[in-house]
Amino acid sequence: MRALIFGASGQVGMPVLSRLRAAGWSMDATSRVARGDVDGVTWHCGSLDAPPPTLPAACEAIFSCGPLDAFARWYAANGIDCPRVVAFGSTSARVKHGSPDPAERDVAMRLAEAEASLLGVARERGAAATVLRPTLVYGAGRDATLTRIAVLARRRGVFPLPRGARGLRQPVHVEDLADAAVACLR
Ligand SMILES: NC(=O)c1ccc[n+]([C@@H]2O[C@H](COP(=O)([O-])OP(=O)(O)OC[C@H]3O[C@@H](n4cnc5c(N)ncnc54)[C@H](OP(=O)(O)O)[C@@H]3O)[C@@H](O)[C@H]2O)c1
Repeated sequence: MRALIFGASGQVGMPVLSRLRAAGWSMDATSRVARGDVDGVTWHCGSLDAPPPTLPAACEAIFSCGPLDAFARWYAANGIDCPRVVAFGSTSARVKHGSPDPAERDVAMRLAEAEASLLGVARERGAAATVLRPTLVYGAGRDATLTRIAVLARRRGVFPLPRGARGLRQPVHVEDLADAAVACLR
């Protein structure tokens, strides 16, 4: 079984890659940085906007663990033969569409358009597509949110709560997201 993974070097992409590898999948992974192949993983250097010409024409599954809007554009423009697509979007598609901040509304609009495009193109092609919408992602120590707050709290002994902060989020662990993405295959 062969999978194509975008964003495989990211917080969530890495555990997705390692789960598929452990399950015996062969993988084509992309990165904007040149990386050396390892057993079962062929790395292709390029971005979603300038995709490497070496990507396969067919595979059993595609995972998108990078920017959803760029992936949706790539998927619409690329006639890859693949029955299963699993892509990460964001809860922002739902919760920020009514934000007073125009930049947040723009994010929500771009995510919603990307989801609609991806799901529509997949439907036309007879492929099964799933979009997962995480909230705050943590667990790899690379996030700029919870990890920084935790470091600050540990150092200062206090948890800073900005005045008037009423937004609620349920953070999700990178390993749980990787489990969910791989479970989508079933
Ligand atoms: N982090 C969060 O709190 C959060 C919240 C909600 C939703 N999400 C979504 O969850 C998914 C995973 O997030 P993450 O935190 O794991 O992301 P991340 O650690 O920032 O990794 C994103 C990956 O996408 C790749 N990438 C970025 N721009 C690209 C482009 N133009 N073309 C091709 N590849 C590109 C990068 O690979 P290279 O640098 O190797 O090219 C990077 O490994 C993403 O879809 C994200 O939008 C994340």
